[in-house]
Amino acid sequence: MKKLGLLLSLCLAFVSSMHAEYEQEGSVDGYKVYKQKCQMCHIEMITKKETLKIFKTLKAPPMVEVSARLKENILLKEDDDEVKRELILTFMRDYIMNPDLDKSMCHVGALDRFGVMPSQKKNLNNEELHAVTQWIYDRYEGQNF
Ligand code: HEC
Repeated sequence: MKKLGLLLSLCLAFVSSMHAEYEQEGSVDGYKVYKQKCQMCHIEMITKKETLKIFKTLKAPPMVEVSARLKENILLKEDDDEVKRELILTFMRDYIMNPDLDKSMCHVGALDRFGVMPSQKKNLNNEELHAVTQWIYDRYEGQNF
């Protein structure tokens, strides 16, 4: 019975944390956060061909590439879209606040060219962090690069 109780309260905690996340979705506009705080380095949408042409002028990988790489690289043994989304959001939230060469999933060539991203700790509050990462994930749904 005790175990069942624990399991139940874990489930409830999970459900209410998911609920909290959905609630947050409405309050801050992730796209606005992107435009104000990320766009100066990460272009929103571009093809690979165009990227190669203007590579020298870029400050960071385009956001469409960032999203596609994370979705390619973070794989689950069993397909579960919800868990995958949560895992990628967690990775992004950590990376954006605490970037690190060892954690980066960017191409070696891109890291050589751009260096590691500066931490956005001072630029983002927690709500903005949640909103912008959710926006990134959903904006590029099904989008390859
Ligand atoms: C001053 C330029 C700059 C700004 C501003 C910036 N980034 Fe970055 N970002 C980079 C560079 C350079 C990289 C690639 C190197 C790396 O992975 O650290 C990167 C990589 C990333 C990655 C990929 C990490 C990985 O390992 O695949 C994510 C996610 C990301 N940025 C999100 C954001 C978000 C969200 C914002 C706005 C809140 C933002 N960045 C603002 C320069 C920037």
